[in-house]
Amino acid sequence: MNITFYGHACFGIEVNGIHIIVDPFITGNPKASHIDIASLEADYILVTHAHQDHVLDVEEIAKRTGAIIISNYEIVNHFLDKDVKGHHLNHGGTFSCKEFSAKYVNAIHTSSFADGSYGGQPGGFILTANNNSIYIAGDTAVSFDMKLIPLFATLTAAILPIGDTFTMGVEEAIIASDFIECNKIIGCHFNTFPPIEINIDDAKQQFKLKSKELILLEIGSSIEL
Ligand code: NI
Ligand code: MN
Repeated sequence: MNITFYGHACFGIEVNGIHIIVDPFITGNPKASHIDIASLEADYILVTHAHQDHVLDVEEIAKRTGAIIISNYEIVNHFLDKDVKGHHLNHGGTFSCKEFSAKYVNAIHTSSFADGSYGGQPGGFILTANNNSIYIAGDTAVSFDMKLIPLFATLTAAILPIGDTFTMGVEEAIIASDFIECNKIIGCHFNTFPPIEINIDDAKQQFKLKSKELILLEIGSSIEL
């Protein structure tokens, strides 16, 4: 599984010859101006919730690539109206194909589209391929529901928000990593805008003190898991 960070909460995942994009928000991200969305390949687009900083580029990428949007019922309906392909899930449900599976799990957050319309309940995903599972938390606070995740999958790594203000910050993310029983954390949702600016050296140090690894990828760079 190869994971590329496209800034904010957007990742590209390449596995078994297919391309998955998570929460595309590139054209609106001042830190990701060097990423050309026209160059991104996508077979599937996973959307955690309806906020603009997670869905802005969904329609454009889905139309160009023909990718299938996987998200909650309301978000998929929203995009089906725009003549793109989608697969409905809701919490507890799993999408499976021969290359991977994606289970939609709880998040503690909100989910409305930019015009205020309802975006269902927010979530995250457990993505599994080749006996390798990662947890993509989406925007969320830490929650006791995270203790269910190790019952579903043994995680190789987890993508957690760490920017505080709209999601958990570093302190909660460390607790979350205990709950999900995973010490390899890829941070996201930080330093995109002033309200979510954090000190990354301090964040890494706090994880290190708990014998955990916080991986903060440069925008456009990749990690192989
Ligand atoms: Ni959000
Ligand atoms: Mn967000």
